[in-house]
Amino acid sequence: MKIGIVGASGEVGRTMIKVLEKMEVSIGELILLASSKSAGKELMYKDKQIKIQELTEEKMKQKYDYLLFSAGGDVSRKYAPLAQEYGNTVIDNSSAFRMHKDIPLVVPEINAGLLKGYRGIISNPNCSTIQMVLALNKIHENVGIKEVVVSTYQAVSGAGNKGISELQAQQAGDMEIKHFPDQILNNVIPKIGEYEPNGFTQEEMKMVNETRKIFNDSGIDVFATTVRVPVFYGHSESVFFRTEKEVQLSEIKKLIEMSENVVYSDEIITPLHIAQSDLTYVSRLRKAGPKEYMMWVVADNVRVGAATNAVRILLSHAQLNTGK
Ligand SMILES: NC(=O)c1ccc[n+]([C@@H]2O[C@H](COP(=O)([O-])OP(=O)(O)OC[C@H]3O[C@@H](n4cnc5c(N)ncnc54)[C@H](OP(=O)(O)O)[C@@H]3O)[C@@H](O)[C@H]2O)c1
Repeated sequence: MKIGIVGASGEVGRTMIKVLEKMEVSIGELILLASSKSAGKELMYKDKQIKIQELTEEKMKQKYDYLLFSAGGDVSRKYAPLAQEYGNTVIDNSSAFRMHKDIPLVVPEINAGLLKGYRGIISNPNCSTIQMVLALNKIHENVGIKEVVVSTYQAVSGAGNKGISELQAQQAGDMEIKHFPDQILNNVIPKIGEYEPNGFTQEEMKMVNETRKIFNDSGIDVFATTVRVPVFYGHSESVFFRTEKEVQLSEIKKLIEMSENVVYSDEIITPLHIAQSDLTYVSRLRKAGPKEYMMWVVADNVRVGAATNAVRILLSHAQLNTGK
């Protein structure tokens, strides 16, 4: 396969290269694209050094089997439709197309069926949404979920290279605030993204709207508070959910254990210990009322929440459409 990565030098792009390698995706040609700032730099794929090239419109007109985009919404809005026009299938990590009604928003373990016979732009959901819906999926399928209340504890890597650099700089004594709304070192910041007119942030509304779209259920109420914490990798979430049917806690536990790429643990799971894992971890499961439950969900945001989900989309799409 010929695969292109747009935003290859970024946190997600570099992780995509590692995940493509780990998942043994059969690649004949790998094209790495980024801004002029990174053009000429080299990145390793397997034992080969590959030069990053500058992203141009001409490069989008070439034929790829898959183009993986992770260079932000503006780059996706400008270049992904052009790549699509030239017959390419794009897997886009930005929020640019996620809520477009004709564009599939895919977590393969839940709705891979949307990929069959589809060509064009495919959206990868927000990192916080992916791990939450993976943990809730089988419960929703079997018991029905009416309401979710979630508070997130999101790593600085969720803001890309600049988020990581800001925490590292503050750890080294440079307290300048560049990207986050307040000092992130020794702090917790309850605002990710800009405010929407309803007082929720963009990140919070992504969790509401994307959950409904992925579950194809506009009746689920989702209430989110998204919070940045001084952790490098791994988003954690405290999730309260109310089901349609009343079931035993053991039944909920069984459904979580049945979920693909989800691990249930009786021990507490913390982000420090699951960095670079491709699984979503559920612990602290409790019954809070007849139809009310609570759990703690942790996953590597750059892998499960971005690169791994994108590569799983690629593999599902290839399998469903070419049998490869
Ligand atoms: N980090 C996460 O956990 C996460 C999770 C889910 C989704 N995402 C989404 O994935 C995307 C990338 O995130 P990231 O965390 O990897 O960000 P990042 O570390 O800041 O990397 C951004 C990448 O985009 C490239 N880029 C920026 N402007 C460009 C331009 N005009 N032309 C070509 N390339 C350009 C950068 O290239 P240069 O290095 O050359 O500037 C770099 O490769 C964003 O849309 C983000 O919302 C991130």
